Amino acid sequence: MLDLRLNKMMNEDILKGYEKDVERINKMIDDRSGAGNDYLGWADWPVNYDKEELVRIKKDAQYVRDNFDILVVCGIGGSYLGARCALEALNGLKSDDKLEIIFMGQTFSPNYVAQVMNYLKGKNFAINVISKSGTTTETSISFRLLKELLEKQVGKEKARRAIYATTDKEKGALKTLCNNEGYATYVLPSDIGGRYSVFTAVGTFPLACAGVDVDALLKGAQEARSDIRNKSLKDNDCYKYAVMRDYMYRHNKPVEMYVTYEPQMSQISEWLKQLFGESEGKEHKALFPASATFSTDLHSLGQYIQDGTPLLFETIINVKEPKLDIKIPHDNDDLDGLNYLEGKDLAFVNQKAFEGTLKAHEDGGVPCNVIYLDKLDEYNLGYLFYFFMRACAMSAYMLDINPFNQPGVEVYKKNMFHLLGKKGY
Ligand code: PA5
Repeated sequence: MLDLRLNKMMNEDILKGYEKDVERINKMIDDRSGAGNDYLGWADWPVNYDKEELVRIKKDAQYVRDNFDILVVCGIGGSYLGARCALEALNGLKSDDKLEIIFMGQTFSPNYVAQVMNYLKGKNFAINVISKSGTTTETSISFRLLKELLEKQVGKEKARRAIYATTDKEKGALKTLCNNEGYATYVLPSDIGGRYSVFTAVGTFPLACAGVDVDALLKGAQEARSDIRNKSLKDNDCYKYAVMRDYMYRHNKPVEMYVTYEPQMSQISEWLKQLFGESEGKEHKALFPASATFSTDLHSLGQYIQDGTPLLFETIINVKEPKLDIKIPHDNDDLDGLNYLEGKDLAFVNQKAFEGTLKAHEDGGVPCNVIYLDKLDEYNLGYLFYFFMRACAMSAYMLDINPFNQPGVEVYKKNMFHLLGKKGY
């Protein structure tokens, strides 16, 4: 479970001042009466999810595990980051699971795409293509390449049974292709946007393929939903966190830096940056979400955080119990002077680095919030995802912003399509 320690600028009086607003907005989320209300399906999805589809997802995932060596997950943005960050957080960066997962469709990089395509030559792989619109250019280009290679290697009929698609229930180019080709298809519900979709097939299919316990992930989300929507602000960590963000924004702290002490959690920060950045960054408002992985980045950005322009505050996700640990060995010569740590766990050292840094940054005037997680398992991660999604809706509504659209991302696409010579641009 999760515990929140707010930074020292926050106090009971400040929280009290927000009580009425929080109550009103919580009701707006529950009633689906705020801006973008046709995209609030995620709020109840942990209890309203499609039970039959999840059974099919788990069965198909087992088939993938039993019959393929690699699953290529092809998607971008909200159709990619949730699965990627959950997978890394849960299975680590050097997973020895029998099914290798490769992400594609999230870049135009010729180096990356060509390298992955070369790697896949002659290998036994399946594809999970994920796109709600079915027309996202990065994903479509990668899928075209993957489909061509697969069909060349195993023939059209076998390829058809190795392609799993997640898309809109009714519309879009990918849906039409699925209907024509007869691919196994899962639904990204029309009332859930990409960055709020990790509990739908967008996340659950690739995660189930990777051996993740998706029931426990959903259970964590269910628990978070029930805690958050039913508790008043004084007992509600999620809304306290949202209030703190609003207060920081209005008190000259325009940058929130997400901090983790585990490299395998750095993609969680990427997911958070998308969630908050794409949901709130509109009408020239909102916090800028940034991230760092400590202690690695203490040897780079650490200098700026301690002594640079005082524009940021930190939100640190601290995991109390690591899954794996290792002891520091004795060395007869002790030339590195490390024998004072002999027999100590690395988790102990990491924890002291956290405590020492927290004190240094707070003493240096950086407001630091800490979210303590018991451990990094499916249940806790499900809780954490829902916690942040609900906090994001709350804090966007506090800024009077629709959290569920992204009008700004169309601008670069128009220019790019014009330059690429796409018809109509
Ligand atoms: O969160 C979002 O809505 C976006 O990041 C989308 O998920 C992303 O642009 C991919 O869109 P699509 O699923 O239509 O390919």
